[in-house]
Amino acid sequence: MSTISPTSLSSSNGRNAPEGRRKITTLTFRRKKQRGEPITMLTAYDYPTALIADQAGIDSILVGDSLGMVVLGYPNTLSVTMEDMLHHCKAVARGSTYALLVGDMPFMSYQTSPQDALCNAGRFLQEAGMDAVKLEGGRERLEAVQSIVAAGIPVMGHLGLTPQSVHQLGGFRPQGRDATAAQRLLEDALLLQEAGCFSIVLESVPARLAALISQRLAIPTIGIGAGAGCNGQVLVSHDVLGLFDRFTPKFVKKYADLHGEINRAFTTYKTEVESRAFPADEHTVEMPDQEWEALLSRIEESTQEIDQKG
Ligand code: KIV
Repeated sequence: MSTISPTSLSSSNGRNAPEGRRKITTLTFRRKKQRGEPITMLTAYDYPTALIADQAGIDSILVGDSLGMVVLGYPNTLSVTMEDMLHHCKAVARGSTYALLVGDMPFMSYQTSPQDALCNAGRFLQEAGMDAVKLEGGRERLEAVQSIVAAGIPVMGHLGLTPQSVHQLGGFRPQGRDATAAQRLLEDALLLQEAGCFSIVLESVPARLAALISQRLAIPTIGIGAGAGCNGQVLVSHDVLGLFDRFTPKFVKKYADLHGEINRAFTTYKTEVESRAFPADEHTVEMPDQEWEALLSRIEESTQEIDQKG
């Protein structure tokens, strides 16, 4: 019987990992936690961003349903469909070779029944090249998690601020800030671990609660607005790059101002087109003089023929 080593795993884009750099798996996540090495995760929704994240050595790419807000312009994530997610997951899979790819299950793709959850989770792997799925919620999601995990599909949990419940939570607000809510979060994290999750995102929860949960769990936690005590960090790439115009959550650090950069580029382009500075000779395709002369004589001949007929 042959076994597959992590180096021989290739991503869905078919590129094999050369010696020295390995495809990140759920096992890598677990080992990084054991070694105390932080796990890095970013969202991506398209081929170029996935390519750059992968080249930068990011451990894991989440095709988040934040897609709805930062790419599709919806006010929240509730309008995102399975077809939207699969379309963007496929593009990300084509750009990534090494990162563990996690597809975010959209609203109503797993809440309706464990069977729906399983079928939709399967589509992320079978059709869209993802390595794992993520879904939101705690004790109310255990059956869904169990049915997906039983099919051999790795599941990442998501607790704290769960954006698909924005109306129930009364807005995008921090969670687990009183003892009762904090205890419930800890219990939910333990239940998700028991149900088979390989990792859990903790979003917008107090740093000391996230650190406590991270210590109590054997599986790694990935924090977003949950402090430095988590086993890894995730951010929305559009926030990191300064591309999302509507609001910047307190926990975001902007590492670039692409909104400003793109605005400058587009404005300069407009000015140069209007002043005819663009396109210049170096942006222009030419044809040999001989061919040009031949074309002009042909036009001349056909014009004379038409004149004679007329
Ligand atoms: O959709 C998303 O981008 C997420 C992250 C914020 C964790 O769920």
